[in-house]
Amino acid sequence: MSASAHPLTSVERCATGIEGLDNILDGGIPRGNTVLVSGSCGTGKTTLSLEFLVRGAMAGERSLFLSVTEASPKILQNLSTFEFFDPKVMADHHLTFLDVPVLYEKLGLQREELSSEDIDLLVASIVKLASELKVQRLVLDSITSVCYRVRQDEKIRDLILKLGKGLSDIDCTSILVSEIGPQENRYSLYGVEEAIADGVLLLGNVQRRGDLLRTLKVIKMRGTTHSRAQYVLDLTPLGILLAPYLKGGRSWEGT
Ligand SMILES: Nc1ncnc2c1ncn2[C@@H]1O[C@H](COP(=O)(O)OP(=O)(O)O)[C@@H](O)[C@H]1O
Ligand SMILES: [Mg+2]
Repeated sequence: MSASAHPLTSVERCATGIEGLDNILDGGIPRGNTVLVSGSCGTGKTTLSLEFLVRGAMAGERSLFLSVTEASPKILQNLSTFEFFDPKVMADHHLTFLDVPVLYEKLGLQREELSSEDIDLLVASIVKLASELKVQRLVLDSITSVCYRVRQDEKIRDLILKLGKGLSDIDCTSILVSEIGPQENRYSLYGVEEAIADGVLLLGNVQRRGDLLRTLKVIKMRGTTHSRAQYVLDLTPLGILLAPYLKGGRSWEGT
């Protein structure tokens, strides 16, 4: 969130390493931004988030994946089928996985609904861990699952603001995965998440000539100019490939 305070020209980028996305974002995500990656089930949110971390780790940055619903071994097993993944990044601690339920237990956060104090404790421990691990990239998959235990808009706002600020202060760029229904007309479960985040990437599905295509659109990204066109997102063994959905249909907008 610090990036938005700088003039556009001096914004340092966190290149996602996904070439098509970096082109759309004029070089990458402004460093320190908190970005919501939103979409329904199977649209590629987890894959995109993992590629962001792996590409960063392979370029020498430290990355942390916080998983709420899926256990890390399962995610790792799927990750290892992608050609861009080099297990070396795990061995040399450039990529670390942590299951959030383990963190809940360690912090004694067993209550169904988290209190304001619980939220502060959770945020502080995530930021502390990120700081200790010298993490420059973090993914929380998903913020929706955490929000199920927060429930109230003001507390969700507080959680995302504090987490975003804590991570931005240590120059960590973060992705919060947001799970929505296929017909949703907003980008997050509570509608608060998208208002607080510095950026929103929307992943979706669209029918074209009988095929179900995956799509990506940058809804907002503070601190950079970007295209708002729709792109076709291809999940390949080499990673994510993006192509314009409609040739000549690009529109560009500053923020
Ligand atoms: N290793 C892989 N190789 C090719 N396609 C994959 C691989 N892993 C996942 N996918 C595709 O991505 C889809 C789900 O992607 P995922 O990132 O888990 O979506 P989401 O997190 O949005 O639910 C799967 O249904 C599958 O089609
Ligand atoms: Mg997922």
